[in-house]
Amino acid sequence: MPALVLLGAQWGDEGKGKATDLLGGSVDYVVRYQGGNNAGHTVVVGDQKYALHLLPSGILSPGCTPVIGNGVVVDPSVLLSELSGLNERGVDTSKLLISGNAHIITPYNVTVDKVTERFLGKRKIGTTGRGIGPTYADKINRVGIRVQDLYDESILTQKVEAALDGKNQLLTKLYNRRAIAVDQVVEELLGYAEKLAPYVTDTVLLLNQALEADKVVLFEGGQGTLLDIDHGTYPFVTSSNPTAGGACTGAGVGPTKISRVIGILKAYTTRVGSGPFPTELFDEDGEALRRIGGERGVTTGRDRRCGWFDAVIARYATRVNGLTDFFLTKLDVLTGWEQIPVCVAYEIDGKRVEELPYSQSDFHHAKPIYETLPGWSEDITKAKSFSDLPKNAQAYVKALEEMSGAPISAIGVGPGRDETIEINSFL
Ligand code: GDP
Ligand code: IMO
Ligand code: MG
Repeated sequence: MPALVLLGAQWGDEGKGKATDLLGGSVDYVVRYQGGNNAGHTVVVGDQKYALHLLPSGILSPGCTPVIGNGVVVDPSVLLSELSGLNERGVDTSKLLISGNAHIITPYNVTVDKVTERFLGKRKIGTTGRGIGPTYADKINRVGIRVQDLYDESILTQKVEAALDGKNQLLTKLYNRRAIAVDQVVEELLGYAEKLAPYVTDTVLLLNQALEADKVVLFEGGQGTLLDIDHGTYPFVTSSNPTAGGACTGAGVGPTKISRVIGILKAYTTRVGSGPFPTELFDEDGEALRRIGGERGVTTGRDRRCGWFDAVIARYATRVNGLTDFFLTKLDVLTGWEQIPVCVAYEIDGKRVEELPYSQSDFHHAKPIYETLPGWSEDITKAKSFSDLPKNAQAYVKALEEMSGAPISAIGVGPGRDETIEINSFL
């Protein structure tokens, strides 16, 4: 019963989509366990490029069943348009399964996300504006709407009423917006019920039965470790748990079932939205990483903030996720630099600090301490094995592995499925 978790080890956009798709051909189920359409996972198959937001990246592998777990928040209109977009490109999406316990991102959650950010002004989080935070807040406040509620009009109406009671007060009195009508929301949501019905099921039962039957299940994290609501750079985080424990709660599978936890790690660092980022670059190196790495948000189109590799963060990701492996991505992007700085520790108030400080104010003051590694200039995009890499690229990978605390079992040297060096098999 191999169950693998695959998640981002930094601030998202590490290349989870590519890594999931790569394994999709060998696994029976790919399960999203948290987040929603704030995610933007790119998958390149041959000359075709796909941008997936809500659908698990396994949807592109014909033998694999994609599952949206109970921990995910689902915007039905986004889901349906993502499905029809794929169908138009000839992708069969009929195997998709959606948990009846997943929460729905309602139109008012999207409105609240946007007005809250506007209200925060300079202190904004820089959310994707997709209603993610307010939907999880409703879930925790026990006024959320679940997928199963679409199939009972009376319960749905009562729940929408309960959710809008307080929100309309806020919208009209604090944010100076118009109140949202219960009927309108209910009507819109009911309009999705029939279209979603073929996919909705008890995914918890199904996944546990699959594991009992020795099927291979891959849990795909929506965001990165440092965006985790508990373990990330709070409050500049997303409102769910992409870290490994989130796979258990967000899919209903016990921790004893998880056999491997793979952290996707970019060979440098990026971040979108607000919040601390010790190795961020504001010079031509940062510009070059952005240009060569194509570092632009898949969901919002925002330029990503770029910086050198941060080993303190990688070590932290190993610890809080219990990582068994790393999948190092985008090594090819670093080709051409004579010297490559790598952050090995921080200086905080004059002291050297080896591990991520738990205090937000300390982290805000953290200055990177760099070690510089020699670069390489040879094209590495055709490399098929570790020994095909130039010596300095090999040394860079080995140095990162030693600093980060888990073996690097695969290396990405380009966006395509086959532009990957496999060192240890994941299955
Ligand atoms: P995700 O959100 O973690 O799935 O990552 P994104 O799709 O947002 O961003 C990763 C970007 O890097 C995408 O454009 C991928 O096609 C691309 N990518 C993934 N792995 C590699 C790699 O090894 N090399 C290069 N050059 N690009 C890669
Ligand atoms: P993938 O799947 C990068 C960031 C947003 C913002 C914060 C909160 O592509 O790795 P939210 O809308 O979730 O409430 O925004 O989290 N964020 C991401 N950054 N990649 C993502 O997903 C992200 N999903 C959310 O930019 O800073
Ligand atoms: Mg992304």
